[in-house]
Amino acid sequence: MSRRTRLIAALDTASRSTAQHWADSLKNDVNAIKLGLEFTYACGLDAVKTVSAGHELFLDLKLHDIPHTVASGLSALAPLRPALTTIHASGGSEMIARSRDALESAFPAGTKRPKLLAVTVLTSMNAEGLLDIGVNATPQEQVLRLGKLAISAGADGLVCSAHEIAPLRDALGDDPVLVVPGIRPAGSASDDQKRIMTPRQAAQAGADWIVVGRPITKASDPVLAARAIMEELASA
Ligand code: C5P
Repeated sequence: MSRRTRLIAALDTASRSTAQHWADSLKNDVNAIKLGLEFTYACGLDAVKTVSAGHELFLDLKLHDIPHTVASGLSALAPLRPALTTIHASGGSEMIARSRDALESAFPAGTKRPKLLAVTVLTSMNAEGLLDIGVNATPQEQVLRLGKLAISAGADGLVCSAHEIAPLRDALGDDPVLVVPGIRPAGSASDDQKRIMTPRQAAQAGADWIVVGRPITKASDPVLAARAIMEELASA
C-alpha cells in the first residue's frame, strides 16, 4: 500500500518566543508541529494554543493515570484541537478505551477528532530496564504486546521506533497510524538517539508521520533543513 509520510517538527524548548519563531518560520515547510512536556509545562496551555495556530498540532503529553483521570484530562485538552495526542499503552485497555470515548464525546460526528496514539515502550528502555520493572520480555516483544492491546482497546495508532514499523505492520496491518521519532537525515548528528533511520527509510518502512526535532531546530537554517526532509519524503 502506498502512503504519504508526513513531517512533524518537534519544537522542544522551554522558551515561548523560540517556539513561536520556529512555528512562524516553518509554517509552509512542515506538515505539523509537536509540542510536548517541556514546552507545555514551561509556557502553559495558552502558549500551546498561540504557537500552534495555523499548524496541525501533535500534543505529546503521554498521559498515564487511572482511566477516569486520563479521560478527563483529554476532555480538558480538547479546546487545543490537536490532530494527534498521546497516552501510555501500559495504562491498560480500560484507560485506552475511556480515552477514546472521551475524545469521541468532545468531538461529535462531523468534527475532526484528534487521533489517539499510544506509547508502547519508551526507546530509552532496554531489556534490563524492563526486567527492573517486572517485565520479562524483550523490548520488541513488549512493543508488540502493548501495540496489539492499544489498537484493540481503541487507540488509532502508536508512537514507535522506525525499527518497529515492520513487525507492527505485520501484526496490525495498514490501518494503525504509526508516528515515528528517532529520524536522522543522512549525515546529520545522531545526538542521543541510538536506533535511527533516515526519512526515506522510515517512509519506505511504512511510517505515517515522522517526528524530527534537533536536525531541524538546531540547523543553521531550519527552513532549508525542513524542506530537504520534505523533498526526501516526496521522493521516497
Ligand atoms: O531532536 P530529536 O529529533 O531527537 O527529537 C525527537 C522527538 O521525539 C523528541 O521530542 C522526543 O522527545 C520524541 N520522542 C523520541 N523517542 C520516543 C518518543 C518521543 O525521540 N520514543
